[in-house]
Amino acid sequence: MTKHIHVIGTGGTISAAGDSGKTTSYQAGAFDASQLLEGLPPLDGIADLTYEQIFSVASESLTNAQLLQLGQRVQEILADDAVDGVVVSHGTDTLEETAYFLHLTAPSDKTLVLTGAMRPATASSADGPMNLYQAICLATSEQAVGMGALVVFSDGIYAGREVQKTSNFRPQAFDSRDLGCLGYLREDQAYFLQGPTKASPQFDLSGVARLPRVDIAYYHVGASADILDFFKDRSDGIVLAGVGTGNISQDWASYIKSHEGQLPPIVRSSRVGNGLTLYEASVDEGMPFIPSGSLPPSKAKILLSLVLTQTQDPQAIREAFEKY
Ligand code: SIN
Repeated sequence: MTKHIHVIGTGGTISAAGDSGKTTSYQAGAFDASQLLEGLPPLDGIADLTYEQIFSVASESLTNAQLLQLGQRVQEILADDAVDGVVVSHGTDTLEETAYFLHLTAPSDKTLVLTGAMRPATASSADGPMNLYQAICLATSEQAVGMGALVVFSDGIYAGREVQKTSNFRPQAFDSRDLGCLGYLREDQAYFLQGPTKASPQFDLSGVARLPRVDIAYYHVGASADILDFFKDRSDGIVLAGVGTGNISQDWASYIKSHEGQLPPIVRSSRVGNGLTLYEASVDEGMPFIPSGSLPPSKAKILLSLVLTQTQDPQAIREAFEKY
């Protein structure tokens, strides 16, 4: 049966135009969703499409307000009985953050697929049309229902929670590190090998007027604790991008200890971007840290921001990090 898929354009390289055939120095947002859909292989008998251009930005300039707007719009569209699934076309630079945000907020009884492109639409071997075509095909698949937000890129299917950008110029730009891909697309057919690791909880965005500000404090050799002082009065939550298993210097730890009660909730994550950050007595004992588990800083930031729309309670935040 033909499915009704709604496509939302947000901008990014997939919608960009550049020097004829070339892959660099291009202008994002030159084409809107309707123009991108014109260039696709026929979808007769697969999908009836509707579309909208919600905004047109390079994804590095995406704001928290736009992320919230997108999340609210996706919730609204998926509540419509006439719609079977949503496809979001997005810039690749922050796709992993939006994918996890939508994974945490969209209803999982329908399909939701994100995609983008590494090459502008005018490149001689543009990757956008096939990525978009396959994203739409995946959104029509019953197999994709209940998997939360999925990302399609270069024939691979990735979980919105796990996906990360792993190359900054190759078309094979995404992976899920430890987890690998969930499956593949061959033309319009999906082949799943495994499912996502965690539930998609559907945080309700309907009454949310603004996303809490969560900042990432990136630790490096010689990093001054001043950065924490900067965040102290500005942030609603802080994610530490520590080294190794989420470690920080004695200096940072002393600053945090001596300012307990004045700092917002702090999630301890690792800049390694792979592996686990778990409770360790030698680091966490007596400290206000919430370990991020397998979430890297960019994703821990998304979850903390959503949890903070509901609670400030450290125990509830800790439980959310264990569950989602
Ligand atoms: C962006 O993220 O909007 C620019 C880069 C890209 O889409 O590949």
